[in-house]
Amino acid sequence: MKQTITSIQKAKGNRKLSMITAYDALFATLFDEQVDFILVGDSLNMSFAGNEDTLSATLEQMIYHTKAVCKGAPNTFVICDMPFGTYTNENDALKNCVKVFQQTNASAVKIEGGSSKAHIVKALTSNSIAVCGHIGLMPQNFRSEGGYKIKGKDEQNTKALIQDAIDIQNAGAFAIVLEGVKEEAAKQITAAVSVPVIGIGAGIKVDGQVLVWSDMLGLFEAFKPKFVRQYINGASLVKDAVSTYVKDVENLNFPNESEKY
Ligand code: KIV
Repeated sequence: MKQTITSIQKAKGNRKLSMITAYDALFATLFDEQVDFILVGDSLNMSFAGNEDTLSATLEQMIYHTKAVCKGAPNTFVICDMPFGTYTNENDALKNCVKVFQQTNASAVKIEGGSSKAHIVKALTSNSIAVCGHIGLMPQNFRSEGGYKIKGKDEQNTKALIQDAIDIQNAGAFAIVLEGVKEEAAKQITAAVSVPVIGIGAGIKVDGQVLVWSDMLGLFEAFKPKFVRQYINGASLVKDAVSTYVKDVENLNFPNESEKY
């Protein structure tokens, strides 16, 4: 059954939530109804579009991929990641998120940022746009912070993250993605809010997990973050299959009698 914001929020403390990313209708169909929600992450700018970071993803790209994912997974709650630079002020954020809601079937958007983005979350949620927050390691800060930096390493930063979570919750976020945070800090952040906290590289003491589909299926070979569990070695399965196909073509093993008209 397709989740709603209410059913997602009721899960907190009762069962763990699972989220996966998807970028196209083909894989979204495979994930439909298996997970609680699908995120059309701007990570597609790396593993799908081949760029070094997420920053050059555009609104048009995110809308295109979100449309495809919604078509492939009609029974799953789909979240569209708002790309870098599309929510720097309330007016732009509202204009761009309304475009996402009008042009796709997404149930919510995701924006990166804590207390400093609470006014943006408020502007969206008070205008009927459901918002999933994203705090901790925020990939859109890759260039400004000079890399991916793990958060929650000391008490001061943990306190700041707790405040971030409280402020975006109070602004109306229905859930929060928490990325790249030490487990003890993640535990305290999760306990401090009543909305579900979905971790990625944040340990097990959260309300659910999210993984990037191409990481967990072992298809993205450029690098493997420590927190990723590869459930299959997709890259070698695909390479072996293609190499077998090429040999079959060369050896006249393909097509056979039943594979022709
Ligand atoms: O873009 C993305 O895939 C994400 C996940 C890492 C949570 O934001």
